[in-house]
Parts: sequence; C-alpha cells; structure tokens
Amino acid sequence: MTTAQTQDLDVQPSPLALLLLGREADPKSERGVECPGDLPSPSDPDLVERARKAKEKLGDKVFVLGHHYQRDEVIQFADVTGDSFKLARDAAARPEAEYIVFCGVHFMAESADILTSDDQKVVLPDLAAGCSMADMATAEQVAECWDVLTEAGIAEQVVPVSYMNSSADIKAFTGKHGGTICTSSNAKRALDWAFEQGEPSTTKVLFLPDQHLGRNTAVRDMGMSLEDCVLYNPHKPNGGLTAEELRAAKMILWRGHCSVHGRFSLDSVNDVRERVPGVNVLVHPECRHEVVAAADYVGSTEYIIKALEAAPAGSKWAIGTELNLVRRLANRFAPEGKEIVFLDKTVCFCSTMNRIDLPHLVWALESLAEGNLVNRIEVDKETEAFAKLALERMLALP
Ligand code: 13P
Ligand code: SF4
Repeated sequence: MTTAQTQDLDVQPSPLALLLLGREADPKSERGVECPGDLPSPSDPDLVERARKAKEKLGDKVFVLGHHYQRDEVIQFADVTGDSFKLARDAAARPEAEYIVFCGVHFMAESADILTSDDQKVVLPDLAAGCSMADMATAEQVAECWDVLTEAGIAEQVVPVSYMNSSADIKAFTGKHGGTICTSSNAKRALDWAFEQGEPSTTKVLFLPDQHLGRNTAVRDMGMSLEDCVLYNPHKPNGGLTAEELRAAKMILWRGHCSVHGRFSLDSVNDVRERVPGVNVLVHPECRHEVVAAADYVGSTEYIIKALEAAPAGSKWAIGTELNLVRRLANRFAPEGKEIVFLDKTVCFCSTMNRIDLPHLVWALESLAEGNLVNRIEVDKETEAFAKLALERMLALP
C-alpha cells in the first residue's frame, strides 16, 4: 500500500500491520503453505495478461468467484463478487461451469463444493487461505459440547445455528442435529427459524463459532438480553458453564471470534467521531458487541457496499471491516464526494484472504487451461450430505 493510499484512508501503517501482510502471519489458519507447482514471480510484468489469456482460453468452463475482501489485483478477474451468502448462491447457480475458482477462503470453497454438482470442481488458488475463526471450532470440540448439553438434559431443546465461517464438518454436525447455517446477512432470519423449530419458551440455540455475530443478532436484532446469552469455552471442562447456567440460557455462544474485526474497539468509534465530525459509523456484525452497540449501522459486506452506494454526496463514513474492501470503497466513492475512512487508526487486512494473490491466480488458471486440475477442494460424501442439508435450510430461509 502506498503512502498516498494510507493517507486517503486516515490510517497509519504499524509494525503489526506489516506482520499481518506477511506470509504465515496466522500459521494455524494458513495450512499447506507451499504451492505444489511453479508459482510465477510476483514481479512478472505479464501477470495480468497471463491471467486474462488463461481465463479467455478456459471460456465458459471456468467461473471465478471473488469475496469482497480479496485484493484488487485478484478481484478484477472475478465473474461475480459478493458476501458469503451471495457467493454460495452464485456458486450453486452455475451448473455449466466445470471449474469454480474460488478467490476467498477455505470454508467458502468447501461450501461451493457442497452446493455444486459432483462433476464440478472447486479450486482454491492458495490452499493456505484458511480462516482463524473457522478453526476455533473443531468437530471433536463440538461433539464434546453436545455431550455436555446432553448431560445437562437440554440437548433435545437445542437447535444448532452455525455461521458460514465454519468447516464442512461443523456444517455436517449442524445438519445432522436439525440446524441451519447462517451468514452475516441472514443471521436474524436463521435465529427466527431456529426458535420456531420447537416450543418457543424452551428452545435454545447453540451458535457457533462466532460469539459476536450470535450475541449481536440476539441482542440487537431480536430483543434478547445479554443475560440470555452464555459463553461456551471449548477449552474449559463443561465449557466453563454449570448445568444451571446452560438450562437458563436462550443462546449458547461458542467462544470464537474474528481476529480482524476483533481489533475494532469502543475507543476506535469514539476517536473517529471526534476526528471526523458528523461521521456515520458502519460496522460488520463480527465486531464486538460494544462496537456494534455504538455504531450507527451494522451489516454484512454486501450491506456495507449498498449503504455506501445509497449514501448522499458529502456524507462521511467510518467503516469497521477488512481493509481491502474499505480501501476499494474509499477510492470508488471519492469522486462522488463521499468521504470514507477506516474505523481503526492502524491498517487491518485479513492475512488469509490476502494469501490469494495474482501469482496464485495465474498459476491456478494456467494449470486449468493446460488440463491440470490443481488445489481442488473436495468434501467427502458423508460430510457433504449432512452439510448440504444445513446449507439448503439456509438457502430456503424466508
Ligand atoms: P460476509 O462477506 O458474509 O459479510 O462475511 C465476512 C467474512 O468475514 C467472511 O469471512
Ligand atoms: Fe475469517 Fe475474519 Fe478473515 Fe473473515 S475476516 S476470513 S472471519 S479471519
């Protein structure tokens, strides 16, 4: 990022920001770091042309999906861009494409594989593009949690609602136990649905893995109190909760979070209101509850884009989400006289989203154009069947 770009966004590069931009900033989520082929050099001046040519050669055989957090150099090659919900729907709506190249993270590519037909192949250009939040709930931990709920005598009243940002195993668990998947754009509808699955006064939701999206939706959108929510810590015996606490709760929140959105604080909101008088604060619901409570607007990445599209000229916005998106929006809307700043003083990319760069995209597209299927993401059949059930429940939400 150039100095001019950082100034535009009213942010200051910090040593931490440089670390986040580096390789293996988040080693647990950056799995399979080595590329199994000959990666083009990032300084190759022909990268853009090479990607264009390979994509042209593949024609309708390839469909490239790009999440809003992807780099500009990658997003320019996406056939569609979107939030997690839109991308899941778009992937399912392209049965003629033999290859789905997913420019996003691992759980998104898995979901695309689950929702597409068996002869379609989903490719993730860099297998190291994981998600630290998704890694915070493993199948073993969730099975153990279910045992705890059974022990407390409440498992039959509990409907699991899992955020899209989870592994295929967790989605399969959710499907198997009568639950649904949600994204940040339909979490309220998913919770409404879940509470309708049983007797409303006794039904409970196990929300995983993002405690913040669960809490924010329950309290901000559904009128529950903070006391209705308990936090299940998978690293403590019985989740760190007593059977009484579990029985009294309406929302059992898994102790997971997004490290990118977790950086925004109440101070960030107060600071920006002082620095930019009249600013509208717009944040993603993965932010902490106190940040969401202090914000003017809250929504998914797609919601954020639409809100800025609809904003009047001369309006000022502080955005609390990943920096690639905020930077792109700041540049896009500056000519319309909309001032967009990043909510925090220090820059904040998602290190795993950022792993998909132009060299990896060129390598994946050229390999496919030469007939070599690389970096395929394939979910096993049994997991797929139950995970699909949960994903289809989400796609059918009113
Ligand atoms: P959405 O694009 O669905 O808002 O989700 C953001 C995110 O964190 C994806 O990892
Ligand atoms: Fe995961 Fe957060 Fe990155 Fe989204 S922004 S992919 S939740 S680490």
